[in-house]
Amino acid sequence: MFYFLTNVKGYLKTTFFIYQILNLINLCAYIFEMFTMSDTILVMGACGQIGTELTEKLRELYGNNQVIASDIREGSIDMMESGPFEILDATDKNAILQIIQKHKITQVYLMAAMLSATAERFPIKGWDLNMTSLLAVLELAKEKHIQKVFWPSSMAVFGSSSPKINTPQQTVMEPSTVYGISKVAGEHWCNYYYEKFGVDVRSIRYPGIISWKTLPGGGTTDYAVDIYFEALKKGNYECFLDEHTRLPMMYMDDAIDATIKIMQADTEKIDVRTSYNLAAISFTPKEIADEIKKHVPNFSISYKPDFRQDIAQSWPNVIDDSKARKDWDWNHQYDLTTMTTDIIANLKNKAK
Ligand SMILES: NC(=O)c1ccc[n+]([C@@H]2O[C@H](COP(=O)([O-])OP(=O)(O)OC[C@H]3O[C@@H](n4cnc5c(N)ncnc54)[C@H](O)[C@@H]3O)[C@@H](O)[C@H]2O)c1
Repeated sequence: MFYFLTNVKGYLKTTFFIYQILNLINLCAYIFEMFTMSDTILVMGACGQIGTELTEKLRELYGNNQVIASDIREGSIDMMESGPFEILDATDKNAILQIIQKHKITQVYLMAAMLSATAERFPIKGWDLNMTSLLAVLELAKEKHIQKVFWPSSMAVFGSSSPKINTPQQTVMEPSTVYGISKVAGEHWCNYYYEKFGVDVRSIRYPGIISWKTLPGGGTTDYAVDIYFEALKKGNYECFLDEHTRLPMMYMDDAIDATIKIMQADTEKIDVRTSYNLAAISFTPKEIADEIKKHVPNFSISYKPDFRQDIAQSWPNVIDDSKARKDWDWNHQYDLTTMTTDIIANLKNKAK
């Protein structure tokens, strides 16, 4: 009996010891995971005007291998060499799922779209790309394959019946372009997936985005990028908008800053689940030309408005983005003068 009891005691002691060791291993694994776990991001439409610089910034912040760039075409050498890249059609839900599973993606930035001027030429294709890609990503988030989604809307959600000065966050939205219609619908899909399924999708209404690294992809505000290149190359520019057409614009650095800021904000700060108004500067073609003349004194501009004039005329002059500023501390850095100085210095440097 004594022998039996000693054996049971020994057995219990050993089991308890093994149990303690297993607990310790579990704890170590948990601590290891805590320290090594971070978001893995998929950027779709990464080779476009915004996607290129967004990918670059995200790789700087999260690490090159944590940010998977994707597009239906290859991008710049920098983009292709600085981290993982996948050819991916944003309208193919199964293909997106495969990439999400392959790279253990937690967040998606969906930048693939057809922009305003191009979508007016190919309305059905524009609608199809803009809607199918968004619904594919929202469904994948609903099915819990990803945790967070960024999808950009645009000032194109507003139309002629919206107030033009200080266009409010919530107002009449009757867009006149297929692009604008797709963005209004997209905003409501985002809100629907948030309300019904708890999908954490965040969105901002970009104004016209101005950059010098990557050329724009067929928008109505593209003149404000082309003008810098032509000023330095030829000394003159023929603008497709009328000289007094005032539109809301933003330097790329500010747009990237806002995009990452809204994605990193605490959930309770995101009060709007359609899309936030976002603004920085508003100017006319004449005003940007006058600013360029300070750096290129002989620069001249002429005006030959085309179909894009009608689109521009339906959009706001100045947007009120106080809600974004209040909710998640958004602030822009660049005005027309500092943006122009920066772009011209960079383009001159690039040409050397
Ligand atoms: N650039 C602006 O001024 C501006 C203003 C308002 C809103 N936005 C929005 O921001 C987002 C990004 O705009 P952008 O200026 O970078 O556009 P862009 O046209 O420069 O880039 C779009 C990218 O999407 C890719 N693409 C097209 N079809 C695809 C598909 N089926 N699958 C995967 N990729 C595909 C293109 O190859 C391109 O690289 C868009 O949603 C756009 O509506 C842009």
